[in-house]
Amino acid sequence: MNDAIVRLEKVTFRYGERTVLDACDLDLCAGERLGLSGANGSGKTTLLTLIVGLQRPGQGRVFVLGKQRREEADFREIRGPVGMLFQDSDDQLFSPTVAEDVAFGPFNLGKPRAEVETVVARTLSQLGIEDYADRVTYKLSGGEKRLVAIATVLAMEPEVLLLDEPTAGLDEAATDRVAEILLGLPQAMLLVSHDRELLSRIATRTARLEKGRLVPMV
Ligand SMILES: Nc1ncnc2c1ncn2[C@@H]1O[C@H](COP(=O)(O)OP(=O)(O)OP(=O)(O)O)[C@@H](O)[C@H]1O
Ligand SMILES: [Mg+2]
Repeated sequence: MNDAIVRLEKVTFRYGERTVLDACDLDLCAGERLGLSGANGSGKTTLLTLIVGLQRPGQGRVFVLGKQRREEADFREIRGPVGMLFQDSDDQLFSPTVAEDVAFGPFNLGKPRAEVETVVARTLSQLGIEDYADRVTYKLSGGEKRLVAIATVLAMEPEVLLLDEPTAGLDEAATDRVAEILLGLPQAMLLVSHDRELLSRIATRTARLEKGRLVPMV
């Protein structure tokens, strides 16, 4: 196949009559942090859902981690190694407390309890939210939930990150912390954001989604 960690080849996707992606190509290579912007409704979130197989393209091919992905079984293989931060934190969080939510992924990967506890403590502290551990997830504010959602993704130590507006709703200090963390990670990532400053700080390359295709930004 190819060296790309994620590759979309001529992917077309429609919701009914509405074409959202139109023969869209995308390559994400090792070590790259691709910043993706585009107007509201241009299809950024849809593009991420196609990469992880939550929806299937009408036409075109999806390659992730060295293999073409077509069927549910193909996508099941990548749901651990591909860390997806949903645009809406409520889609990500479902456990009673923050610590349980962050522990869920690593437990599911089969890590022993002691190691999970270490990962949870380390991830929360990295994000500056160690004091959230025992809080009730659904009672958190929007920004607090955002940070916990990021923690749940980072705690999985994925091979590639798909982040849908990670800093939406975060204050300046929290945005800075998240930016520093992302900059320090070796993994390839696709970072959807409307925040140009964040993209210029973090992304190694940026593109805009326009009329169903990616247009490189210079
Ligand atoms: N489940 C759905 N059914 C029908 N249309 C949908 C559905 N989800 C999204 N759409 C439409 O597809 C288009 C692309 O939506 P998408 O959420 O991918 O945009 P986006 O670029 O992520 O926007 P935003 O910047 O607001 O997050 C929009 O016009 C939206 O209305
Ligand atoms: Mg979106």
